[in-house]
Amino acid sequence: MEGNSLKNEILRLKKEKDAVILAHNYQIPEVQDVADFVGDSLGLSQQAAKTNAKIIIFCGVHFMAETASIICPDKKILIPDTEAGCSLSDTINAEQLRKWKEENPNAVVVGYVNTTADVKAMCDYCCTSSNAVKVVNSISADRTVLFLPDMFLGAYVAEVTKRKNMLIWPGECHVHAGIRPDIVNDMLNTHKRTEFLIHPECGCTTSMMYYFGDNNGKDNENSHNVKFFSTEGMMKHVKNSNENKFVIATEIGILYRMQKENPKKKFIPISENAICKYMKMITLDKVLRSLTDMIYEVKVHKSTAAKAKLAIERMLTIN
Ligand code: 13P
Ligand code: SF4
Repeated sequence: MEGNSLKNEILRLKKEKDAVILAHNYQIPEVQDVADFVGDSLGLSQQAAKTNAKIIIFCGVHFMAETASIICPDKKILIPDTEAGCSLSDTINAEQLRKWKEENPNAVVVGYVNTTADVKAMCDYCCTSSNAVKVVNSISADRTVLFLPDMFLGAYVAEVTKRKNMLIWPGECHVHAGIRPDIVNDMLNTHKRTEFLIHPECGCTTSMMYYFGDNNGKDNENSHNVKFFSTEGMMKHVKNSNENKFVIATEIGILYRMQKENPKKKFIPISENAICKYMKMITLDKVLRSLTDMIYEVKVHKSTAAKAKLAIERMLTIN
């Protein structure tokens, strides 16, 4: 099946089976177009909890589908391809975290949402890129914080919070780590009066903080118009900003939604190579297979889900 007939068959089956399709901001355009909701990892889980549908086709990567299963255990969560993993969540497993906690018995553990359910279950707090600073600031200043697994996001949080007692796991995402300072500096020179929106997982984050200054990039003589946002934060910012042109430093899939929702504005990717191969594993054919054969279910074990849910709920009470 091809093109429109594939799309129509997905829409028909979705109705027949009372399913909803949730797609991450990095999904390919065709998948975004059949989705009921497109958003960031946390937003998708919140949508999963809100929907009355019993079946959710989760078009994103595995840890995101697990988070949806943790938040709404009564729903059937299907991922169209089980190979859709995440290089960042792969950098730490439960055994490694157990050892790290043993070495730092009084520390508070803050785990980024890009972690497996087993790892989340061992964290005190979960966080996303949009609330990591708030979560860390909510922890008593005299407690050591173990922050995992992204070292660039961790360095960003440590810099903004000025916290010295924060230990950071040396993990990185292969896509965002590749957005290095030299790439961003070249783009800053080429696009001088353009706003730069940077995801704090990027490899350039620490050096870009220098341009950022202490007041959103406005009080530093070396300032460029550089701002740090999560994917959904970027979406909100470009919609509300008076600017018309932006350089976007994150996975390029987000540009499709940005352009679609803001047709008069111009978006320039920081690098055409910022592509997450895992996100791109989800295709319309696989979405159709998911709907037809009800595969592949992602189900987090009850006891793991209960512990992981606590870390997520603690985060939500801070927001
Ligand atoms: P969001 O939490 O912003 O959806 O991002 C997840 C991610 O994988 C970023 O690379
Ligand atoms: Fe994971 Fe990076 Fe892909 Fe996001 S872009 S899902 S962090 S590998």
